[in-house]
Amino acid sequence: MNTPPITILAIESSCDETSCAISRDGWILSNIIAAQRVHEQYGGVVPELASRAHIQHIVPVVDAALKKAGCETKDLSAIAFTQSPGLIGSLLVGSEFAKSMALALDRPLLAVHHMQAHVLANLIPNDTTTAPSAFIPSAPRRLPSFPFLCLTVSGGHTQIVRCNSPLNLQVIGETLDDAAGEAFDKSAKLLGLPYPGGPLIDKYARDGNPARFSFPEPQIPGLNFSFSGLKTAILYFLQDNSATDPEFIRTNLNDICASIQARIISILLNKLKKAARQTGISDICIAGGVSANSGLRLAFRDAGEKEGWNTFIPPFEYCTDNAAMIAITGHYKYLAGDFSPLSVSASARAEW
Ligand code: KG4
Ligand code: ZN
Repeated sequence: MNTPPITILAIESSCDETSCAISRDGWILSNIIAAQRVHEQYGGVVPELASRAHIQHIVPVVDAALKKAGCETKDLSAIAFTQSPGLIGSLLVGSEFAKSMALALDRPLLAVHHMQAHVLANLIPNDTTTAPSAFIPSAPRRLPSFPFLCLTVSGGHTQIVRCNSPLNLQVIGETLDDAAGEAFDKSAKLLGLPYPGGPLIDKYARDGNPARFSFPEPQIPGLNFSFSGLKTAILYFLQDNSATDPEFIRTNLNDICASIQARIISILLNKLKKAARQTGISDICIAGGVSANSGLRLAFRDAGEKEGWNTFIPPFEYCTDNAAMIAITGHYKYLAGDFSPLSVSASARAEW
């Protein structure tokens, strides 16, 4: 008799995206994401509004994920959800929904750490050869071998992670202050761009000269990062130039964005090179929202060629927040029997 497939329903609600994905035997069958536009007018995510939007989105998003996957709730093996870190009100909506589903369906519960899931997005297969029939084929994708390093760059975190196995991950470097995503978003705010500014800096940078303006690279020992000095340097640079030319930002926007982006990328990649040399590891990944940045993706591939790395970047839709990464992490936790009791609580901050 064939063993039944492992089918995971996963929920991600840590910040301002409500997402549900279904995986079968580690393949992603669906990954539905409802973004929240309501925050744009406030220049950042408003936690109370995010929680309310999750409540509105969660039922239709879960329904859509099941439908797209061609699944019924009786087919599910377990329910996975983002337990931490994130906005507590947002996490609570997803976690309580997941717990209710697990209880009602009498299925085990898988509590997933959001940053671990960003890393494991690199293990999502994307190959037509062994995919289940409901899988929508796209380009074949090779996966990293263990141990590998992952530069995880998101709105709240910047980490270099050593991955010994799917569930054995070790942070070997991290930011001492702002995250790379914050450096993008705060720079964008100084330039008068709406939230989230990272993708807009990316867009304007494509038509700009990255060598036009020079911003400082902080000298932080070891494998840690710092972005707060860069933010201050950009603030003074813009104030000084706007004092003599009120149109300075508007007339130089592309070059300013390209120069800021180039410096953020060099800070990230110089530390990643150092980590690769120190550990002797040559399978190197990037992950998290900032790994959607076109300049970083190109510079990472270039660095890989020069350094002799095998480089891996998750498909674009698995870089920013999504439930597919929660599903793949849930899948590995399921295989390890790493289940959580219904009493498990969401947490704004938690170590992993
Ligand atoms: O991983 P993510 O979706 O959410 C968190 O876990 O924080 O990352 C969001 C961050 C934001 O700071 C956003 O501006 C940044 O990722 N981001 C980008 C790009 N797309 C998203 N930053 C630079 N270029 C992009 N294309
Ligand atoms: Zn994230």
